[in-house]
Amino acid sequence: MIKITKVCVYVEVLFLLICSACNAVGSRPDPFKQNELLGRGVNLGNALEAPMEGQWGVTLEAEYFELIQGAGFNSVRIPVRWSAHALKDKPYTIEASFFKRVDWAVEQALSRGFHVILNMHHYEEIYIDPAGHQQRFLALWEQIAGHYKDQPANLLFEFLNEPNKNLKAEPWNQLIEEVLKVVRRSNPYRTVVIGPASWNNIDFLDKLRLPDADRNIIVSCHYYKPFEFTHQGASWVGTSAAKDWIGTQWSGTEKEGQAIIEDFEKARVWAQKNKRPVNIGEFGSYSKADMASRALWTAFIARQAEKKGFSWTYWEFCAGFGVYDRQEKRWNEPLVRALIPPEK
Ligand code: BGC
Repeated sequence: MIKITKVCVYVEVLFLLICSACNAVGSRPDPFKQNELLGRGVNLGNALEAPMEGQWGVTLEAEYFELIQGAGFNSVRIPVRWSAHALKDKPYTIEASFFKRVDWAVEQALSRGFHVILNMHHYEEIYIDPAGHQQRFLALWEQIAGHYKDQPANLLFEFLNEPNKNLKAEPWNQLIEEVLKVVRRSNPYRTVVIGPASWNNIDFLDKLRLPDADRNIIVSCHYYKPFEFTHQGASWVGTSAAKDWIGTQWSGTEKEGQAIIEDFEKARVWAQKNKRPVNIGEFGSYSKADMASRALWTAFIARQAEKKGFSWTYWEFCAGFGVYDRQEKRWNEPLVRALIPPEK
């Protein structure tokens, strides 16, 4: 009897050891499975990617993670402006206090069982001067990757949000190779997320070049079309026309729907040909648009993505595109229902 109990304990310990090894450092996860687990997600936008957290109105709270979990989302994307919290010169050290704050957010998410995309957001200087900032970018990732190397497989790294300006397709492809080398040294089995150039444009998938041998990659595109609808009244888009777009509706006519279906179908064909899983890392509409249109558009994108086997992360939780109203402390019901329809 005692012997049998002992054997059981050994087997159990062995099992736990194998599990934890697989989870932390162990085997290479299947990126398609990882993408399935990302499932339906939300961006914790306007918080840690503001120049200082709080400056754009959002300071992350434990309650937000609880709410997101309760609503039935599977994942969160945490945008982070690392570049504003690190030395400008060698060795480009990231502030310890900032790491602590990001650790807290990551822990909040992981402890609730979310799949988590931790990214680098708004590194404005590298978009302007890619060559001049390459070393710093790689040094930042060396630190981030080292810092989180023992975290479980449900933490994913995304190298850079929306490469744009001078960080065009070719320099971006080269930078991807470099940063992968750096990150793979400490995280050989970490799933990483990479998007195409020109603001992670779905139409730029053909220009994205990923190292063939590295299969542990999810490809992420952002989708804000029609832009005049999603960005009506948005002061930051750099065109004064944005305020003239106010009043643009989206009613899901066949023509409107078809344009989206075609974009997603092209992405699906690309994904199939290149054998890569796809995530729609951002999509959303600004609060200046009318709610009925927003809800229709949001549901349309989410369902189309799901039909194609893409995971998605809505932009964003509780600021200008928010699915949650942090002032009123309530969900924007039409939006959350559009994202996560009640089960029949
Ligand atoms: C940017 C946000 C912006 C959003 C929609 C994101 O990638 O980081 O600042 O609100 O796109 O334009």
